[in-house]
Amino acid sequence: MKFTLNVDHVAVLRNARAEENPDPVTFALLAELYGVDGIVVHLREDRRHINERDLRLLREQLKTKLDLEMAAVQEIINIACDVQPDLVTLVPEKREELTTEGGLNVIDNIEQIKDTIDQLHDADIPVSLFVEPDINQIDTAAEINSDIIEIHTGVYANAKTEEDAFDELERIRQAAKHAKKIGLGVNAGHGLDYINIKEFRVIKDIDEVSIGQAVIARSVFVGLEQAVKEMIDLIGPN
Ligand code: PXP
Repeated sequence: MKFTLNVDHVAVLRNARAEENPDPVTFALLAELYGVDGIVVHLREDRRHINERDLRLLREQLKTKLDLEMAAVQEIINIACDVQPDLVTLVPEKREELTTEGGLNVIDNIEQIKDTIDQLHDADIPVSLFVEPDINQIDTAAEINSDIIEIHTGVYANAKTEEDAFDELERIRQAAKHAKKIGLGVNAGHGLDYINIKEFRVIKDIDEVSIGQAVIARSVFVGLEQAVKEMIDLIGPN
């Protein structure tokens, strides 16, 4: 299982004072040196995390891969086509939310999402759709030529009882198996941390996990190198 690091929270800290530090680009480059398999950033319409300068510098400097999370809106599609990330992950975006709250409803928004995938494919950019572990959503993602799905793990991460966590894990396992069977790549993320990753990492059909909050928060206490290496040790070999 590969591990990509979401560095949006570093940009949030920088933006809090409208100054230059901490620079999410420097942070991402160091995380690469410490062994992450890629960097994830979310360019929001309100630019509350990273901005276009960050995105363009990351594109120029990263040695691993750049996964751009974004909403299916034309302004950001145009930026993506210009910057050429290695992957675009389409996510739902609401201005008032603290973080992405759940998967895309691919079925109800099929035309808009299909048109976005087509535009990104025309620019040779592979596309992943962030979805719930729901077979119908996954089948629809495949129908409109998504290359990858990213399974939302927030329900698993926030489960209040062991039984609920187990049930959701099973749902994720089945969804990942189905997605693989129909030819999709399978990523996963949201709310994964140093504790819940232990049960999660054994799901064999998941290619990659995308983690932000837990690793950035831990790096405040123990430093980025240790925070990244501890997570890599927990996830295990690729
Ligand atoms: N995947 C997606 C699609 C996300 O929106 C986020 C949060 O930005 C993550 C993964 C990472 O979530 P967390 O910060 O909770 O690890």
